[in-house]
Amino acid sequence: MLSYKNNQLFVDSVPVSILANKTDTPFYLYSKNKLSEKYNEINNAFSKVNHIICYATKANENVYLLKILAKKGCGCDIVSIGELNLALKAGINPKKIVFAGVGKRDDEIKLAIKSGILMFNIESIPELYRIDKIAKALNKIARIAFRVNPDIDAKTHPHITTGLSHNKFGLCFDEAFDGYILAKSLKNIEIAGIHTHIGSQITDIDSFILASKKMSSYISKLKSAGIKLKYIDMGGGLGIKYKDEKVINPVDYADAILKYLPGNYTIILEPGRFLVAETGVLITKVIYVKKTAKKNFLVVDAGMNDLVRPAIYGAYHEIIPVKWKNGKKHNWDVVGPICESSDVFAKDRSMPLASEGDYLAILCAGAYGYSMSSNYNMRPRPAEIIVEDNKYKVIRDKEKL
Ligand code: LLP
Repeated sequence: MLSYKNNQLFVDSVPVSILANKTDTPFYLYSKNKLSEKYNEINNAFSKVNHIICYATKANENVYLLKILAKKGCGCDIVSIGELNLALKAGINPKKIVFAGVGKRDDEIKLAIKSGILMFNIESIPELYRIDKIAKALNKIARIAFRVNPDIDAKTHPHITTGLSHNKFGLCFDEAFDGYILAKSLKNIEIAGIHTHIGSQITDIDSFILASKKMSSYISKLKSAGIKLKYIDMGGGLGIKYKDEKVINPVDYADAILKYLPGNYTIILEPGRFLVAETGVLITKVIYVKKTAKKNFLVVDAGMNDLVRPAIYGAYHEIIPVKWKNGKKHNWDVVGPICESSDVFAKDRSMPLASEGDYLAILCAGAYGYSMSSNYNMRPRPAEIIVEDNKYKVIRDKEKL
């Protein structure tokens, strides 16, 4: 989606500088083509089996992007009433919505049952009782899966690993087994499947293989106990290349998972980052070039309130100039205007000479970018713009003061 022509950065066919000159920075810029491409890549990788791609909505909650995915037949993995509302508004088929999260509230459960979602991915026994009770009051049957925690180290950042036994997510295999037996006896519950999600930004294929092997032997154990499932939800987590990571190709991912899982089930995948990270960039302007005895700072107009990943995970995001300048490179700290020392997008990053008013593009910002943004320091959230059919379109205005 990104290319330089005559030293000018383009997103598909749109020159970024022309757009930036007309738009208040910072702003997120997405590519519809890229989003479609990413969806097709993962969808095609699983084409051999019955499957549903349930996009992890939390990665990017722009309704326009969701509508594009809905038209392609995509489902959603949701974690709140807000995401449920959004998915339904975007036209996502409720039969393709799965609902995870350790703290589902009564109003959330109620609306999800009424909307006829595919299944609740249950994370505790009290939650099972609560869903049964609410379904009974509504005179409905709620479809469920247990989220199992397979105790696998996905070798990712500690804040985004979820499948270890000390994490708050899911139930261990034995507890989930008791849960399934109990669920069988509850009148307003229908057992539909099983779920796991071992973490995010995973680049180690062995973690997925291990998860599939563990799920597979567990599913046989359930079968022997008379628990029949229709859906195996393997969660999300497929990593992308932010810097120099060796990433898993979706075809290898599908092969690795499908090799061990039993046949005759519908496989659910919940990719978030994989679908949207590379679909978006954050465009920002250099406000000041500040040179001190120790450091050269580029003070930009985007802050950690707009993109918090570097500040909270120490995450690396590539930064490139919107207008390429040849010549000697310099080391820069790219920092935002927020009153926190962690408001830093890059440290000692080698980039061409930059001056006041230059635009920069922070890459791979489409996932967990806008969706984790805030108004910290009383800053309005940025606009979101998409490039589609050789044109650009504002899909969310910048917030007003
Ligand atoms: N399914 C469940 C149940 C999840 O909790 C998540 C992400 C996903 C799917 C999607 O995972 P993905 O395919 O995007 O890796 N804010 C962090 C990532 C947090 C992920 C939370 N759960 C970041 O910026 O790296």
